[in-house]
Amino acid sequence: MSKILITYATMTGSTVEVAQAVGEEIARSGLQVEIHPISEVKSLEAYDAVVVGAPMIMGWHRTASGFLKKHRAAFRRIPLAVFVMAMSLTKTGETSVSGVPIYLDEKLPKPPEKEGRLNFRERYARLSNYLRPIIQATHPVTPVSIGVFGGRLDYGRLKWWAVLFAMLIVRAPAGERRNWPAIRSWAAGLPAAFQLEAQSAGPAGQTA
Ligand SMILES: Cc1cc2nc3c(=O)[nH]c(=O)nc-3n(C[C@H](O)[C@H](O)[C@H](O)COP(=O)(O)O)c2cc1C
Repeated sequence: MSKILITYATMTGSTVEVAQAVGEEIARSGLQVEIHPISEVKSLEAYDAVVVGAPMIMGWHRTASGFLKKHRAAFRRIPLAVFVMAMSLTKTGETSVSGVPIYLDEKLPKPPEKEGRLNFRERYARLSNYLRPIIQATHPVTPVSIGVFGGRLDYGRLKWWAVLFAMLIVRAPAGERRNWPAIRSWAAGLPAAFQLEAQSAGPAGQTA
């Protein structure tokens, strides 16, 4: 049976539950799923596809970017999907970046304050600005899909410098914006995107 790795980085923990939801949806297709933090993944040899998820933390989480670069060669053999958690995204109408299809949580993007002229924060929070470094990390291979979803911002769990950045640059109110139906709907499409759907080799298995 094909084995799928879901691996994640996090700062304050909310991405862990997203990784679990993604794993649950993939397991429904009869594929075997393993979920591990990136720090525990040494090799991708045992897997037939990989999902890497992490939040935007002044750019995509450094651990996740490093993971993609480190395993770049493996992604020539096995398909990769990526998910990105964010609290601020400028509505620009972009639906793909560098040819990679993007699945966007419709509730996340906000229109710019002045139509046709983006300010510094709005330019920073463009989809292409967030995703281009991620796509370049595995060049010339690209992810089969990138999901971009609202996350959770919890100022009580953050150090002062992180609060400052989030307040000044992200400018998002604290709170829960994870859109579970959108996350699950994206994840349910991954077996097909990986071309690994509908295997009938017994009950779905999930191990963490
Ligand atoms: C220091 C810091 C920087 C952040 N930078 C961004 C950012 O650039 N863009 C964005 O949309 N969200 C940003 N966020 C929001 C996080 O991506 C969001 O809260 C995420 O869901 C946190 O996931 P976690 O709980 O797994 O760490 C930032 C949050 C913090 C604390």
